[in-house]
Amino acid sequence: CGVVGYVGLKPATPIIVEGLKKLEYRGYDSSGVAVLDRDGLKVEKKMGRLAELEKALTGKELDATIGIGHTRWATHGRPSDVNAHPHTSNDGRIAVVHNGIIENYLHLREWLSSMGHEFKSETDTEVIPHLIEHFYKGDLIEAVQQTVSHLEGSYAIMTISKDQPDRIIAVRQDMPLVVGLGENENLLASDIPALLKYTRQCYLLNDGDVVELRAEQVIIRDLTGQVVEKDIFEVTWDAEEAEKGGYEHFMIKEINEQPRALRDTLKGRTTHQGDKVVLDEIKMTTHQIQGIKKIIITACGTAFHAGLVGKYVIEQLVRIPVEVDVASEFRYRDPIVDKDTLVVVISQSGETADTLAALREARRRGARVVAITNVIASSVAREADDIIYTWAGPEISVASTKAYTTQLVGIYLLALYLAQERNTLAAGNIKEILNELKAIYAKAQQVLDNESQIKEFAQQYHKCEDAFFIGRGLDYAVALEGSLKLKEISYIHAEAYAAGELKHGTLALIVENIPVIALATQQSLYEKMVSNIKEVKARDASVIALAMEGHTEVEKVADQVLYIPKTHPVLAPILTVIPLQLLAYYMAVYRDCDVDKPRNLAKSVTVE
Ligand code: G6P
Repeated sequence: CGVVGYVGLKPATPIIVEGLKKLEYRGYDSSGVAVLDRDGLKVEKKMGRLAELEKALTGKELDATIGIGHTRWATHGRPSDVNAHPHTSNDGRIAVVHNGIIENYLHLREWLSSMGHEFKSETDTEVIPHLIEHFYKGDLIEAVQQTVSHLEGSYAIMTISKDQPDRIIAVRQDMPLVVGLGENENLLASDIPALLKYTRQCYLLNDGDVVELRAEQVIIRDLTGQVVEKDIFEVTWDAEEAEKGGYEHFMIKEINEQPRALRDTLKGRTTHQGDKVVLDEIKMTTHQIQGIKKIIITACGTAFHAGLVGKYVIEQLVRIPVEVDVASEFRYRDPIVDKDTLVVVISQSGETADTLAALREARRRGARVVAITNVIASSVAREADDIIYTWAGPEISVASTKAYTTQLVGIYLLALYLAQERNTLAAGNIKEILNELKAIYAKAQQVLDNESQIKEFAQQYHKCEDAFFIGRGLDYAVALEGSLKLKEISYIHAEAYAAGELKHGTLALIVENIPVIALATQQSLYEKMVSNIKEVKARDASVIALAMEGHTEVEKVADQVLYIPKTHPVLAPILTVIPLQLLAYYMAVYRDCDVDKPRNLAKSVTVE
């Protein structure tokens, strides 16, 4: 989703729509604009592609030179014309666009309703124009400042009012927003690409900055009203680079977004004390949860690999047998599923044809279906009984990275929730894992900060034709994902093996200098892994081992060791996969591959 605002001397609508087009890569399901012209406030909004909005705008007389626009990627409320932004106040004089999530909107909505405000949409955003109206006493800035003091959550907000038609007021908290500085015109946008056609001079905003944007002047204040001095930031990269936020590819951008994505996916899903999981979105009763006899996880590709982690985690923490099946197999194998089976469907896009068919098959046979998905109101989300959304944000690169790690968070939350409801874990254990989960995004950042070692390894081995990934337990599940990443984007033949299985045949393939990535993060299996590394070293393989900090014994057997920060062993996959994503990425870059669009693969496979 994205926002764009313009105030100047030129017609505002086409500039806003152009800007929104430049933010298309952020993903969206509806869009809209609000402008102020001689006759007052005009709003146009449409579900679907931007072309729908453009169609709706043709022939409309909008000779305004000030306006705000939005592309929406649904969070609260399904995609529809009504839920699209801008939203307006009760009196229709104020319009607002918003990126982010207002966590306390239900409470605010009740409060405003009790004062006679009427709401048209299902969105969290709609409370904002109503609040601004409530606080407006002749100064839009003051009204915005008072409004945000009542908001909990994240936001980039822009507002215009019929009563002060020469300015846009904007404010941000945990959501991107930049000011573009022009000649007799100024702009605002969630991201630099939307501005580049008009200017290369920007103000980068901080949380709590309140912007007063007029054609001839931009004033930035803090939440107390103090003027904040900003340095002008000169953009030196071109538009395409800008969409990637300065990164060379979407994949590496998305790899680096993981700390933020993990934090967002966890946010609001634990009690204040951090001792319990809160999953209000799960409608299953305790009685139903206690009646579950078997769990089947089904998905495709990377999501399937997240499911494999799910098997280990759920079986260990909840003590229910778990099967994991690729969706295209599940749907045709006459699966044994009944009303006591819980089927967990995992899909980033929520549109994968095989996964959707598996979901339908499971429901047809009487199972209850929980979906873990990244796209609101996607087909999977609409047809599942319960949904756990991942808040990874749009994923553009075909090779999935941040979707996978946030799917893992979804799985941990589900497993702990089931454990809570079935009393299979002591309260202390739940709290311990949750505490570690809350610390995971900072640790993910540490792993990312340490990328140079992986980069060097990739440089050294990028010409190889084969590679092996070995691990035991959860490390085996992660090895499969690491190997898939490498194959998908670098076209190097890679295999993942359960380390104990090597000696049953594949050891014959281990030859001199072949790179073996050995995952040894699971303490209970550490000694066994050390022996497996010795086995491949005896065949002269080059071994890079991944271990948890403090477990240094592996240094004696591996050629190189990369340490991940200490965490609870069940959570290790989130950290272990990151170096493997980086390895695949840099190998592909050194081999000159088309990283974001590997040959023959599609991001979302909606055909069988
Ligand atoms: C495609 C993509 C994979 C993805 C799989 C499942 O094959 O190339 O990266 O893991 O679909 O997609 P989903 O959207 O269902 O998670």
